[in-house]
Amino acid sequence: DLGNVLDTASVHGLSRESLERLDERVAAAHDRIQQGRADSEHGYEALNLPSRTDPAAIRDAVSRFDDPEAIVTVGIGGSALGAATLTDALDSDVDAYYLDNVDPEAVESLLDDLDLSKTVVNVVSRSGTTAETLANFLVVREEMADAGVDWADRTFVTTGEEGNLRDLAEKHDLPSLPVPDGVPGRFSVLSTVGLAAAAICGHDIEALLSGAAAQEARLSDSLFDSPAYAYGAVSYALAERGMSANAMMPYAESLETFSEWFAQLWAESLGKDGLGQTPLRALGATDQHSQLQLYRAGPNDKLVTLVRATERDDVAIPETDLDGLAYLGGSSLGDLLDAEFEATEASLVAAGRPNVRIEIDRVDEYGLGELLYAMEAACVMYGELASVDTFVQPAVEWGKRAARGLLGGGDFEEADAVADKEELV
Ligand code: PA5
Repeated sequence: DLGNVLDTASVHGLSRESLERLDERVAAAHDRIQQGRADSEHGYEALNLPSRTDPAAIRDAVSRFDDPEAIVTVGIGGSALGAATLTDALDSDVDAYYLDNVDPEAVESLLDDLDLSKTVVNVVSRSGTTAETLANFLVVREEMADAGVDWADRTFVTTGEEGNLRDLAEKHDLPSLPVPDGVPGRFSVLSTVGLAAAAICGHDIEALLSGAAAQEARLSDSLFDSPAYAYGAVSYALAERGMSANAMMPYAESLETFSEWFAQLWAESLGKDGLGQTPLRALGATDQHSQLQLYRAGPNDKLVTLVRATERDDVAIPETDLDGLAYLGGSSLGDLLDAEFEATEASLVAAGRPNVRIEIDRVDEYGLGELLYAMEAACVMYGELASVDTFVQPAVEWGKRAARGLLGGGDFEEADAVADKEELV
């Protein structure tokens, strides 16, 4: 719902007429995207995943892990956040954890708490060479061996055709899945990369892909017909008009990790050539009591994206005769959350701050598939309109090579740059 962008147009200038003019560029960008998809070009291929991913193959590959108590996904960036978004959003009897960072205290604390004999270790790396992922896996593997657990029996690998992780999987005959070609990490949630963890947790990965396919079917040459393109085009047009930040604010605890996933997608894909829109992470209603002050009364440089599910389980608020609280009784926590959502929208509009409303029916597999696919398509559209190379991440790769070089993992000039840096104390 872009109504609140148009209602604040007098402040930032993005009117219905300017959107109609932008729609000609959306049509051209859509043609380019469709061509890239038809040719399975790097990146564009991600938008083909709803039909290219084989859920039965994923299920089959993980079927040997019956009834685990927990799953630990060892990966980082696009190799962790997609799976984390799914398993944090959906209920399961399997507890899902992530080892993405290499903070020794956090790693130790997680491993201390887990019964490794009942845990599946899901190691994910497209390149198969990422230092954080391999280091964490070596630590977990040793911990398992020390605890007398047959680590090879409880490890699952998703990786490319080459790299250290592929070598390791082959050497120990570990069950594994390939990472599809042409799909960058942050666009890989709907592939083996994100769906293996979801399948191990018992989620309906077919429904996830169906939700994604429903949004895929709505991609068209007009932003007025495609919610995904509308969001991408409007975000781009607002960024051009000074809205240099985008605060992703779901009103559902279960979508908190989705904001992290979105932040990676937006930052790593669009932050190029001095351009981009800084993603911020917020959670409704909690951050109404903190960040909203800034969003409403600080610099007018933000788009606020409000996300909610229209159906959810609810909890009644008990009746009370306490003075002044009668208005709460008979209502529900869901009613209150909805009132907070609408109050936030209205307060932003009253202050001339653009905001977009995104609704899915439920936070379930289908709804998540719709949401994640739509955000990816929005990001691709934004990248086309901004003429940036959405599917590369040279700044991220620079840091990876520097870290490896500093640890003696190869001769990388990026590591020399770190070593040469003068210290000013
Ligand atoms: O989106 C990306 O390309 C990155 O965030 C990668 O997913 C991340 O750096 C991890 O890389 P890899 O999967 O090669 O270990």
